[in-house]
Amino acid sequence: MARITASVYTSHVPAIGAALDLGKSSEPYWQKVFSGYHFSKQWAKEHKPDVIFLVYNDHATAFSLDMIPTFAIGTAAEYQPADEGWGPRPVPKVVGHPQLSAHIAQSVIQQDFDLTIINKMDVDHGLTVPLSLMYGQVDQWPCPVIPFAVNVVQYPVPSGRRCLNLGKAIRKAIESYDEDINVHIWGTGGMSHQLQGPRAGLINKEFDNAFLDRLIADPDGLAGMPHIDYVREAGSEGIELVMWLIARGAMGDLAGGPAPRVAHRFYHVPASNTAVGHLILEESK
Ligand code: DHB
Ligand code: FE
Repeated sequence: MARITASVYTSHVPAIGAALDLGKSSEPYWQKVFSGYHFSKQWAKEHKPDVIFLVYNDHATAFSLDMIPTFAIGTAAEYQPADEGWGPRPVPKVVGHPQLSAHIAQSVIQQDFDLTIINKMDVDHGLTVPLSLMYGQVDQWPCPVIPFAVNVVQYPVPSGRRCLNLGKAIRKAIESYDEDINVHIWGTGGMSHQLQGPRAGLINKEFDNAFLDRLIADPDGLAGMPHIDYVREAGSEGIELVMWLIARGAMGDLAGGPAPRVAHRFYHVPASNTAVGHLILEESK
């Protein structure tokens, strides 16, 4: 039986990818951001998953604004880094896991979450920047990755409650896969940021830290927070945080098991316009 052993949460910011790709990561501004991931890189070496189920959002890159699926699962054998206007990032292609993807799609759709099936797609900074933060500059990513894209770009976006429940369904799906493999689930995007309008540049440290506290200790209560609170408190792009509830919903305590262990927590302001939050939760043995 496949099992989930950890969940990883991290912000994504295109400028973080650019800092790495353009050799600026040792500059003091970026050092402060990357310092929060030193522990994580070591942890990642010691806790190697067979597959990463990576929840992220596409930024009108693969889907454009012509078609916007609410939840979309990548079922391809591989995904190329997308060209977001400056050429594709010089990072490895993402190798998929079509067999596990197909199984999860079957199981989750039978649990009444209608997923869009993506057989061909390029992946943008929403997916590649979290991989870079956790694994650095490598020739290939350490394991297959299943991209799971969530619409947080155009309203209506899914509620926190639906995201948490979807995470629970993903856990059931993974646990019903026959092969004995170890899966990590990642929730990415956020934390507070707003890229446009009169409130551009908004950061809310108090909200972000309360979000981290509640994600750890009160995910069910946090799932009840309405969209308007994300937007008011964390800015228009702060809504990316609902994706963290998908990964959190897949942890065992929400299926009656013990609380997860907080292996690492980091918060730093700013990276570009964004508050960077990062958590690693391990399943208790
Ligand atoms: C920034 C943050 C994002 O989440 C994003 O998708 C694009 C830009 C930023 O802070 O610059
Ligand atoms: Fe974003």
